[in-house]
Amino acid sequence: MSARILYGKEFAATIKESARLEVEKLKATFGVTPGLSVIIVGENPASKVYVRNKHKTCEELGIVSEVVALPEDASKETLLAKIDELNANPNVHGILVQLPLPAAIKAHSDEILNRIDPRKDVDGFHPVNVGKLVLGTPALVPCTPAGCIELLDLAGIEIDGKRAVIIGRSNIVGKPLFHLLLARHATVTVCHTHTKNLADVAREADILVAASGKAGLVTADMIKPGATVLDVGINRVAPKKLVGDVDFDAAVDVAGAITPVPGGIGLLTVAMLMKNVVKAARLQLEA
Ligand code: GUN
Repeated sequence: MSARILYGKEFAATIKESARLEVEKLKATFGVTPGLSVIIVGENPASKVYVRNKHKTCEELGIVSEVVALPEDASKETLLAKIDELNANPNVHGILVQLPLPAAIKAHSDEILNRIDPRKDVDGFHPVNVGKLVLGTPALVPCTPAGCIELLDLAGIEIDGKRAVIIGRSNIVGKPLFHLLLARHATVTVCHTHTKNLADVAREADILVAASGKAGLVTADMIKPGATVLDVGINRVAPKKLVGDVDFDAAVDVAGAITPVPGGIGLLTVAMLMKNVVKAARLQLEA
């Protein structure tokens, strides 16, 4: 039996359409167009592609988008001053600092991200937003894990009461997704590099999320027949070849549903960012 393939494109289109309608509502109600400012430092080629994609999607939906491109050798102080300026600008509703930062300032990433006004933190990385997520009163939630939940909902895959296993404990995906799945009444296990018998734990999952950043880590024998497999990995294995963390060709014969890479969860991330921008704008306008 071959799994249902969950292509991100159709789900992302649904999310973006609802964001576009919300942009129109905000214009009609408050006379305000939501705005996103993305700061990119240096020349990381992957980051440049991601930022261009975010800018293009904003334009599609009628969101004002500004890309602030700073040179590779920009100082921490320059970045903090730029964030202060954007925090104070009422036309900017969302601020995002594209990661990773260049090596020279990488150690200051937390200080830089924490400078963003939590109400404009469309990445959901600020400690205030992380705290709200943990407490079960989420405001702005990280886009990739939020996209995983949205995908399951739109695909009609039940979460309540299910066993969920997440492979990966990053602040961007694994940890926030743990809280989101828990809030939806799944029984959740988070696996990582020190987990013993990873395959045995993974095989218990009704919903298996691979977010380890290791190509081919999840093999078909680690998947319970019929399980839903969300592949959050994006691994470049050749100059023009991206793969996920899951051995897709073998997994597709075992899983009940599975996301491809590329063309899966990645498309949901950008769509959820748009949703966060309109959400942030509404929070600020209603305050
Ligand atoms: N780089 C890779 N993923 C992300 C993300 O979700 N947010 C930001 N700001 N940078 C990233």
